[in-house]
Formats: sequence, structure tokens, C-alpha cells
Amino acid sequence: MFASRTNWNLKPNRLAEALERHKSSGRRLLDLSASNPTECGFNYDAPAIMRSLCTPASLQYHPDPRGLKSARQAVAYYYAERGERVSIDDLLLTASTSEAYSFIFRLLCNPGDELLIPTPSYPLFDFLADVNDVKVSRYPLFYDHGWHIDVYALKQAVTPRTRGIIVVHPNNPTGHFTRPEEVAQLNQICSANQMAIIADEVFLDFSLGATAKSFVGNPGALTFTMSGISKISGLPQMKLAWLVAGGPATAKREALARLEMIADTYLSLNAPIQLAAPILLRQRTAFQRQLMARVRANLAELDAQIAKEKRFDRLNVEGGWYAVLRVPATRPDEDLAIDLLEKHDVYVHPGHFYDFPSDGYLVVSLITPEQDFAEGLRRILSAFF
Ligand SMILES: Cc1ncc(COP(=O)(O)O)c(C=O)c1O
Repeated sequence: MFASRTNWNLKPNRLAEALERHKSSGRRLLDLSASNPTECGFNYDAPAIMRSLCTPASLQYHPDPRGLKSARQAVAYYYAERGERVSIDDLLLTASTSEAYSFIFRLLCNPGDELLIPTPSYPLFDFLADVNDVKVSRYPLFYDHGWHIDVYALKQAVTPRTRGIIVVHPNNPTGHFTRPEEVAQLNQICSANQMAIIADEVFLDFSLGATAKSFVGNPGALTFTMSGISKISGLPQMKLAWLVAGGPATAKREALARLEMIADTYLSLNAPIQLAAPILLRQRTAFQRQLMARVRANLAELDAQIAKEKRFDRLNVEGGWYAVLRVPATRPDEDLAIDLLEKHDVYVHPGHFYDFPSDGYLVVSLITPEQDFAEGLRRILSAFF
């Protein structure tokens, strides 16, 4: 009765089962995978957010497939404040970054065409590809005093059916930004093979160093840059995201015309959120200040705790909300994560969740409230004694 694209294994894995059991036990859980900012104890300007949703203009319907002009202007202003120029004509609003991915996949790929995705990375790509009848091929990232794209392996993975390369900038969970020399190589590969760059920048603002450069101004290949307020302003429940098309003018124009038609088929954004966009985007200043203070404090705690023990290491983090902890690979990561849950009441993501190539990696969320983070980490390290 159902399409084969939905033939997923829907059975929960062993770790998900263990988590369910833990939740029903009523024992307090130290969740070091926390990624929902609305549940991490940050202060939001609740009156301003509530007021922004109550504009009388919401009672009128003025459909625009690209999104209301005032909302697109707010997004262009966000980029202007970062020192990047974006025209509102190159911008299209979506309900989520995932929806933006889907629109781009529909634009670029016929059924069975391929997209290159980084590994390790964010585990949603396989499902996004499945629902859009697209195949994914993985290109490896390798760690050598920081993360790098294995450009040789990436080139080997390109086939006549490859339509684009996905980069997550900075990547989740490795926390590294794509380097300028890598961007140049991606441009060269894409323009030589009629492919596009698809850049996911939901964590762009969370840099631990200098302000990172966006892909929005990348002239070297057709480029789609995505972001949204779920991370930037810590408001995932509001469902406002966007994509920006850039690169050679003719390809960009053609892409935008087709994307507009795709968006017009759904018109998925609602008026109140679009009208609230300037205020919701403005929330990012206070949110990001709190979040970065938390990230820095948790990283310092992590470093202090592992400093005494040579068996643990943390990989370099340039930005984002996560850190990768290297632990002795004495057993499969999944067994370790289940053990931590059942014996120590700590939930942490094993590296294989993000396709790390071997055991011995745990991913910890740096937005976890500080006390939970410190205690959770103590328990993780104690599990090795
Ligand atoms: C790299 C990355 N892209 C996109 C998203 C989802 O963004 P949205 O809520 O806008 O769909 C996430 C969420 O965790 C993410 O980690």
C-alpha cells in the first residue's frame, strides 16, 4: 500500500529504547544531548515576542511565494549587520531549514540523482533525501589539528548523477567552518560539473573566534545558503527559515524563478510569524550573548575535567553548540551510551549517531545548563575507572 521511499526501519534502536525506559522510571536524567534552546534555561524577552505575534496586519492575507517583503527585508538586514550584502530578490522564506533543503533538492534533482553530504554530520540528510527520491553519497571529513574536507575523496565520489555538495558551516557536531581554500576547491568542482553548493549555516553566528564569513557572497558556483531563527534566535517553535541564492547571475535567476514556483505550490509560511520577523530576529542579540557564555563556560569545564586524564581528549571546536569528546574505545559507542544511561543517569549521543568512522567518540551539547553539564561529565569520566 505504501511507497517504497517510506520503507524505513521504524523500530526504535537500543539506545532509544533505553531512553524510553529511563524516562518512565522517573529517575532524574542529566541530558547532555540537550539541543532545544527553549528548554535550556535561557531568558527570552517574552513580552516582546508575544507582542510581535499580535499585529492586526495578520488578519489580512497577502500571499507571496517568496515570503512577505518586510520579512525578507529583515533577513537582508541580518546579513547587512554581519557585513554581507543580500538582495531581498535573492531570498526565499521557508518554514524550516529542512523545508529549504527539500525545495533545493526538488529544484536540482531528478529521482535517483545524488547529493554529496559530509561525514560525520547531522543525521537528518538520509531522511530528507529519501522523501525527495534523492540518493546521498558521503564525502569524508578528517581530523588533523582541526577538521578538513577530504577533497580527493570528495572528487572520487562525484558521478554524472551528482547534482550538488552539501556543507554545514559550521558543521554539526564537529564545530568546524569550511576553510576559504576548501570553498575555492568546492567552487571549482561544482562549476566543472554543473553542480551547486548547498550551505547550511544555522550555526554561523555561534563562532568561538572571529565572525565567520557566510556563503551568501560566494561568486564561484551556484550556491544556496540556508539559515533560520530556530538556532539564530533560539526560536525553533516559530518556524521561520530562509534560503539565499547566489553565484553566476544566469543560473541564479533561473534557480530563483523555479524555486518561486515550488514555494508557490505550498505557501507554507503564516502571516503572524512573517510580520514578527524583524522582532524575532532582533531577539538574537540577547540570546546569542547568553548562549555563547554557556558554551564557553561548558568548554572550560570540560577542559578542566579532562586535563588530569590523558585517556580523554576533546577535539578542536571553532563554533556551534557541540563538542566531540574522545574516550577510550573499549566497547561500541552505543553500548557505552546505554551504560551511561542505565548506570549513571546520563544521556549522551554516541559518535555513530553522526557517522563517526570508529568508536571512541561522544558528542556533548555545550548548551546544557552548566550544573548538569559538569555533573554529567564527571559521571561520564568516572565510568572509565
Ligand atoms: C545542521 C542543522 N541544520 C538544520 C537544522 C534544523 O533547522 P530547522 O529547525 O530550521 O529545520 C538543524 C537542527 O538541529 C541542524 O543541526
